[in-house]
Amino acid sequence: MTDTLADSRTSSRSFSEGVPLVVEDVPRRSTTERTRLLEDPGFGRYFTDSMFVARYRTGEGWYDARLTAYGPLQMDPSAATLHYAQSIFEGLKAYAQPDGTVATFRPESNAARFTRSAARLAMPPVPEAAFLTAVDALVDADRDWVPTGPDQTLYLRPYEMAVEPFLGVRPADEYLFIVIASPAGAYFPRGVQPVTVYLSEDYIRAAPGGTGDVKCAGNYAASLLAQEQAIAAGCDQVVWLDAMEKRYVEEMGGMNLFFVLGSGADAELVTPELTGTLLPGITRDSLITVAREQGHPVTERKVSVDEWRSGVADGSITETFACGTAAVITPVGAVKARTGDFPVGTGEPGPLTMQLRTHLLDIQHGRVPDRHGWLHRVASAA
Ligand code: PLP
Ligand code: COI
Repeated sequence: MTDTLADSRTSSRSFSEGVPLVVEDVPRRSTTERTRLLEDPGFGRYFTDSMFVARYRTGEGWYDARLTAYGPLQMDPSAATLHYAQSIFEGLKAYAQPDGTVATFRPESNAARFTRSAARLAMPPVPEAAFLTAVDALVDADRDWVPTGPDQTLYLRPYEMAVEPFLGVRPADEYLFIVIASPAGAYFPRGVQPVTVYLSEDYIRAAPGGTGDVKCAGNYAASLLAQEQAIAAGCDQVVWLDAMEKRYVEEMGGMNLFFVLGSGADAELVTPELTGTLLPGITRDSLITVAREQGHPVTERKVSVDEWRSGVADGSITETFACGTAAVITPVGAVKARTGDFPVGTGEPGPLTMQLRTHLLDIQHGRVPDRHGWLHRVASAA
């Protein structure tokens, strides 16, 4: 971030009412360098040339909104977020469209969830229109970084954190709202191969009254040890159970879960209901709609580990998959648990899993009509 206004100009856009959006001239990497990085971006390794930053102070509201060069932040060592994790984030993607434009997927839903996360962490909300303006402005500025390879995207990470230099435990009076962007290929290096999951019986992700239904940084810090335990047990991902009875399946790592009952045209889906301890995923919500449209009933209810295990054994549960923005849809192939391991499905991605995955990606990449108005055009054709 830089304080120099030398090469900056105020765009015709405002971030929010009375707050102009300043666009700085940022140094850009060469086409050769960008092309090289976009060849195999992986997930979250490389970042685009620009970032969006706005500041907030109690009494003043949001101010100093700017697109600036991507780079290190300076903050006071006593900044509240560094001590008490008053910090929230979102994750969404921009997709290159066949006509050369770029679109994000349901960004209003991310903006709305960001508002709910801010409220839970006693943080000032970013006005939802301002959230969209910031995301759009960054994608537009760095549209050359939207990759066009198969299923490649530009992953967008809006976040807000408390930066007031103060060690007292209370909501801070100063915040930053930042959006960064990172070209993305597959989230899991093995692509769409089924993952093996580990039921976390020692640790929980979320308890009633906690922060499980919002996207705050602390949720992810608290998940890392269980994820390490899963890896030590030879698994790819941790599956979280409910905190009270350790009986019901809630989520997988940073993804929601679906279970397929039956097969073929009559297959039905079940997904754990949003009890207040699960994150209401936008992919989850989209898949509920898409599956119902394809004639597959979807029920939101509690699913116990016992039901999962016995359903797989008697053949009534035929597939299980996880879904989220970063990883799209990932099949679950096997479960490890202290109470006994069990396989799920055939070891190959299930047919309904793949059908829904293909259809969702087709909508996001503009290969089939967007009947729900889920795509939000950001950058026009070059
Ligand atoms: N659950 C958790 C804990 C997550 O971090 C995410 C990712 O954002 C999801 C579920 C999936 O949510 P979405 O589909 O909105 O990306
Ligand atoms: C996402 O799917 O966007 C997530 O936030 C999950 C993870 C990368 C934290």
